[in-house]
Amino acid sequence: MTTDIVILAAGQGTRMRSAQPKVLQPLGGKPLLEHVLDTAQSLQPRHLHVVIGNGADLVQKHCADRPVRCWHQQPQKGTGDALRAALPGLNGAERVLVLYGDVPLLTADTLRAFLAETPKGAVGLSTALLEEPRGYGRIVRDAQGQVQAIREQKDCNMKEQSIAEVNLGMMILPVAPLQNWLADLSANNAQGEFYLTDVVAAAHASHHPVRPFIFNDASEALGVNDLVQLAALERIYQRRQVEQLQRQGLRLADPERLDIRGTLQCGQDCWLDPNVLCIGKVRLGNRVRIGMGVVLQDVDIADDAEVLPYSVLEGAHIGSGARIGPFARIRPGSDIGVAAHIGNYVEVKASRIGAGSKANHLTYIGDSEIGTGVNVGAGTITCNYDGANKHKTLIGNDVFVGSATQLVAPVRVGDGATIGAGSTITKDVAAGGLTLSRSPQRSVPDWQRPKRQPK
Ligand code: UD1
Ligand code: CA
Repeated sequence: MTTDIVILAAGQGTRMRSAQPKVLQPLGGKPLLEHVLDTAQSLQPRHLHVVIGNGADLVQKHCADRPVRCWHQQPQKGTGDALRAALPGLNGAERVLVLYGDVPLLTADTLRAFLAETPKGAVGLSTALLEEPRGYGRIVRDAQGQVQAIREQKDCNMKEQSIAEVNLGMMILPVAPLQNWLADLSANNAQGEFYLTDVVAAAHASHHPVRPFIFNDASEALGVNDLVQLAALERIYQRRQVEQLQRQGLRLADPERLDIRGTLQCGQDCWLDPNVLCIGKVRLGNRVRIGMGVVLQDVDIADDAEVLPYSVLEGAHIGSGARIGPFARIRPGSDIGVAAHIGNYVEVKASRIGAGSKANHLTYIGDSEIGTGVNVGAGTITCNYDGANKHKTLIGNDVFVGSATQLVAPVRVGDGATIGAGSTITKDVAAGGLTLSRSPQRSVPDWQRPKRQPK
């Protein structure tokens, strides 16, 4: 059967109290609408349509790189009116699956089952039995038990309000009769809107079968109307991702205290302490250990590496067996070699650190290339910026840089060189030997400390 998907995303979202359109609010670091688009695309419909209205320009931009047709609904007169906007695009499809742009947790598996269980020509409804049906449209059945209509909460009488069977919103509709059903909608209801849900009564009247499909996990159909619900969905989303990773072998001190805004890929026997935040694409090899409060953004960490608490790593590759932190900052373009150590209060930017090299304390390494087996002493600074341009510091293998050294770039240090502590290096250093630049030490034995003046 040829199936199109329409995502309704024109609604206002006033209750979000935000200048941003609701469907662009982030869940797991990704706009709500993009979650729905990803799921919809994975079902490979003939065409994917999005109905836009509020914040249309911004929303359309988010669809620009996708195989999506946008339809404008202006003004917004209800869900039935919204689907009408996309009708011209449905020509040639046998059925249409209607999704909402603010219902981000739906899984492709559930939708596949929904599509498979809705026979050709039938109306498919997504339903659930809820203890607390408030706010949802109710499924009204006739004397034979057939679905007769959906009654919106605001239009329900007392008896209808007690119905626990609800419409979760997603619908499958046969395209052939749809045009007439939508044309015949009336806005004569409590909200003065053209309800998409009224097509159910039209289908029933014209003897089209209406098939409810019960969602086992109604939480998949949860929508976002305000920031309280957005936060609740964020937790569900995070829990889902973490459970998936746990099943793949990830060990966590506390599964409630990991946040993934993007993707996290882990090898075997990785361990995460509490409050780790992963952003973008994070990849961990085998036996990687991540300490408390670490932020990982677009990083690739090889086998047996360890990141100690409160370190922030971004856009970097960390070699196997390396040790980072605590309190280290690794910035974009950095490549930390095998078994290298980057310690506390060390910042590394756009630099390559060779295998086994160490910078353990209070150091800034920027725009540098450091060879293997190098020891960078405490308080070393590569002075890479002259106020206008950035310059490189190139350090060979087996170099010993004494503490509190400043390397004024551009500068090169040859293999095996030793630099005396407290040096300011402004010229290239030859291989081997000791280089130091230090003012001579002087003592004034009979010097007196200044005394406080009497008041
Ligand atoms: C809708 C259903 C209700 C169901 C509930 C599930 C109708 C009339 N009611 O109600 O039976 O229980 O979802 O959450 O369909 N939208 C537009 N244009 C509009 C109005 C809405 O694009 O003019 C979009 C919204 O952006 C949203 C979706 O349609 O993504 C649902 O609209 P909303 O107003 O939230 O419908 P509900 O009142 O929740
Ligand atoms: Ca809603």
